[in-house]
Amino acid sequence: MKNIGIFYGSTTGYTADVANRIAKALGVEMKDVHDVANTEPSKLGDYDIILLGSSTWGNGDMQENWEDFIQGAQSMYLKGKKIAVFGCGDENMTDTFCNAVGEIYRRMQGTEATFIAPFNTDGYDFSASEAIVDGKCVGLVLDEVNHADLSDARIAEWVKEIK
Ligand SMILES: Cc1cc2nc3c(=O)[nH]c(=O)nc-3n(C[C@H](O)[C@H](O)[C@H](O)COP(=O)(O)O)c2cc1C
Repeated sequence: MKNIGIFYGSTTGYTADVANRIAKALGVEMKDVHDVANTEPSKLGDYDIILLGSSTWGNGDMQENWEDFIQGAQSMYLKGKKIAVFGCGDENMTDTFCNAVGEIYRRMQGTEATFIAPFNTDGYDFSASEAIVDGKCVGLVLDEVNHADLSDARIAEWVKEIK
C-alpha cells in the first residue's frame, strides 16, 4: 500500500477524533496523523496519499489552524500525489455545511495533485455547501453533532476510495 498521511485541524476535537477513526480504518499509524496546528506544510511531501480534514467555523470558514498551514501547502508542487478531503460540520448551518472541505479542495488545486474520493451525499440534509462542486461532494462530510450515529458507516464507505 502507498503511504498515507492524515492532516487535520480541530477546535473542539470532533475532526481530530474522525481523523483517528479514518486512520484506524485505513491502518495508518498515529505517527502519520498530524494536527496542522503543530505541523509544517512541507510534511505533505512525505506521503503519496494525503488526507486533509477541517471542521467549519464562523460563517463557513476553515478551522483556524488551517489558515497558516494552507498558505504554505497551497504553493507546494504535489504532482503525482493524491489528495482526499474530509471534515466535520453541522447540518443546521444549512447554507455553509462543511464549507471548509470545499475551500481546502479549491485552494489545493494549484498543487497539481490528483483529487480522489468524492462522496455521495444522499441522505444528508443541507441547502448549500462549498464542498459541492459541479453537483458532487468533493470529499467526506460528517455531522458529528447531530448525526454521529451515521459517521462510522460513512467513514467505512469513503475509505474504500482511498487507494
Ligand atoms: C460558532 C460556530 C460556528 C460554526 N459554523 C459552522 C458552519 O458555518 N458550517 C458548518 O458546517 N458547521 C459549523 N459549525 C459546527 C462545527 O463545524 C462542528 O461543531 C464541528 O464538529 C466542530 O469540529 P471540531 O471540534 O473538529 O472543530 C459551527 C460551530 C460553531 C460553535
